[in-house]
Amino acid sequence: MKGLILSGGKGTRLRPLTFTSAKQLVPVANKPVLFYGIETLAAAGIREIGIVVGDTRAEIEAAVRDGSQWGVTVTYIAQDAPRGLAHAVLIAEPFIGNDPFVMYLGDNLLAKGIVPFVEEFAATRPAAQILLTPVPHPEQYGVAETDGDRVVRLVEKPKLPRSNLALVGVYMFGPAIFDSVRRIRPSFRNELEITDAIQDLIDRGLEVRRHVVDGWWKDTGRLEDMLEANRLILDTLTPRIDGAVDGESRIEGKVVVEPGAVISGSVVRGPVIIGHDAQIRDAYIGPFTAIMRDVEINGSEIEHSIVMEGSRITGLTDRVTDSLIGRGVTIVRRSGKPAALRFMLGDRSEVGLR
Ligand code: DAU
Repeated sequence: MKGLILSGGKGTRLRPLTFTSAKQLVPVANKPVLFYGIETLAAAGIREIGIVVGDTRAEIEAAVRDGSQWGVTVTYIAQDAPRGLAHAVLIAEPFIGNDPFVMYLGDNLLAKGIVPFVEEFAATRPAAQILLTPVPHPEQYGVAETDGDRVVRLVEKPKLPRSNLALVGVYMFGPAIFDSVRRIRPSFRNELEITDAIQDLIDRGLEVRRHVVDGWWKDTGRLEDMLEANRLILDTLTPRIDGAVDGESRIEGKVVVEPGAVISGSVVRGPVIIGHDAQIRDAYIGPFTAIMRDVEINGSEIEHSIVMEGSRITGLTDRVTDSLIGRGVTIVRRSGKPAALRFMLGDRSEVGLR
């Protein structure tokens, strides 16, 4: 069994971060979303993984390299433009050959992994096996109608969904999918939809099985989803203090402090992770916050947020909350006249003031 991870695409809903960075590398609990996907496939015994990459190829390759850190081998498959999930399958055919494979969307996170689903697929070998989960807004996803264990109809982002079962971004296929991806035409959003290709399998009378996942699933394409995924993962961490915490500080609840981090005169209330060489002084770090390496937080309060490498937050009088702060960002309180707000913000930045 091979693995295929999709890491192309544009990430428009996470701009401005994704102007300069792949959405699959945005960190959840200080680890890129994509790494969770690789771990999930490796845990299911998959050793050969193809990663479909687009414009952000260099950055993804620099982070993942040859995959040996997970005990897998990685082959990069270049996609010239985000022409759809089924297009990604089409161009992966030389890598996949005749093997069955698991396709995993690089911005997805699944609480419990996929081991039982892969085992069942390997034992029963239907043309496809999809994972489903009930969602409150099915119109934002691929939606399935089922009859027992079999899938009878699939529609991509239907205006009037006929069930609340959304397609989770993990699919298992046998080689029949390659004929189907060649038979379909581009959709209303001008993409070759994998949903249509799976419908084509059904129309050809082939077996498409379904599984409803238990445990949470997140598509991390939007800020709220990133923060929620961050919350869910932070809650599972095993507390560990490998950095330096002075006697004036209080650490409460589940907190991970990485080596080289320094915490002084501060209260850290978990679940929280503080990355390598971060400096936290006279600060309050509240629940569900992930602080990455080399971040400095001084005389400020923050909670329910993600702060990426090398950013600096100093002297704020208001608490920062529900925020995703990119790399090398500076937020500083300055005295002096005029007493005013000063910004240098990139395209599509968002600022919420009290
Ligand atoms: O997250 C689950 C949903 O994922 C399913 O319910 C839908 O049926 C499925 O079509 C997909 O919908 P999205 O609109 O959320 O897909 P998105 O464009 O965000 O792409 C998913 C991942 O695949 C993302 O990591 C980018 C990558 N991708 C996407 C396209 C269109 C590629 O690598 N190449 C592509 O051409």
